[in-house]
Amino acid sequence: MPIADKTTMDRILTLELVRVTERAAVAAAMMCGRGDEKAADQAAVDAMRSELNRLRIKGRVVIGEGERDEAPMLFIGEEVGTGVGPEVDIALDPLEGTTICAKNLPNSLAVIAITNKDGLLNAPDVYMEKIAIGPGYPDGLVDLDMPPSEAIARVAKEKGCRPQDISACILDRPRHAKIIEAVRQTGASIRLIGDGDVAGIIHATDPEETGIDIYLGTGGAPEGVLAAAALRCIGGQMCGRLIIDTDEKRARSERMGISDPARIYQTEDMASGDVLFAATGVTDGNLLEGVRMNRGIARTHTIVTRSHTGTQRWVTTRHKVGEKFDFID
Ligand code: FBP
Repeated sequence: MPIADKTTMDRILTLELVRVTERAAVAAAMMCGRGDEKAADQAAVDAMRSELNRLRIKGRVVIGEGERDEAPMLFIGEEVGTGVGPEVDIALDPLEGTTICAKNLPNSLAVIAITNKDGLLNAPDVYMEKIAIGPGYPDGLVDLDMPPSEAIARVAKEKGCRPQDISACILDRPRHAKIIEAVRQTGASIRLIGDGDVAGIIHATDPEETGIDIYLGTGGAPEGVLAAAALRCIGGQMCGRLIIDTDEKRARSERMGISDPARIYQTEDMASGDVLFAATGVTDGNLLEGVRMNRGIARTHTIVTRSHTGTQRWVTTRHKVGEKFDFID
């Protein structure tokens, strides 16, 4: 185990992060199943921001709600925290899976990752090709340039099973028709998800619990960085490649410091240093339960973990809340 030094985070921060995602999750859950994605997202953003601003950090949002002109809060570059404490970079999504929350479907999350300054890929809001598997496999077992059938065959071989026994998670989008076809040809099963690829990738870290061995496909680049941060802590491998296919995206990416648009990023290229990661379930999911509200109590379920130690804490909290599910501070 590496010895703590000045580049490692204050470990109290790990536990403090739980409050941040818990608050966002409860706020989003109030709007769950109401068909209003924007209201659910706004509630989560407000709650996450106010809790984040209580942390003793000098934080900078690197992956947030969008660029300054399009997001009034938690925009890229926004400074958060009390301004006293370690300088950290932050990737966040107060409500990952706005549509699934609005429809009360599984696996929406409130998510945050914190790392040392300059430890996160400054990813523009474009698509990213992704492939991810859980811990325990040899490095580089799968990559983005191999056909999906080969990735499935390699995972099956390492796992000591048949390709038919492998289950892949893929976002249900027309753009994935070829990947879906190729995976089906191997005999592997596919869990097609409507949204929420941060959860999809995290699920590949615990196939026994979730039934997912591998994640494949294209989703948001910011979500890719968040998923990479989770994998740095929980274990597993991920590759990501930005899809920069227009002049406008090229210019935007260059402004954000991306010099090689074709680069394949490995997990550590997207989230380096001492990473802290927390996610609270908003709706029920395969790894996290969603928020339960009953008679003045809001119950939340959170995973909080840290790359330096690899410790995973699964925190169930019962919050005593007011009539409008407002927190007592
Ligand atoms: P939101 O929470 O912003 O709605 O994102 C949900 C999501 O499914 C992500 O998990 C995923 O990376 C991205 O959208 C996929 O984008 P698209 O819906 O354009 O295929």
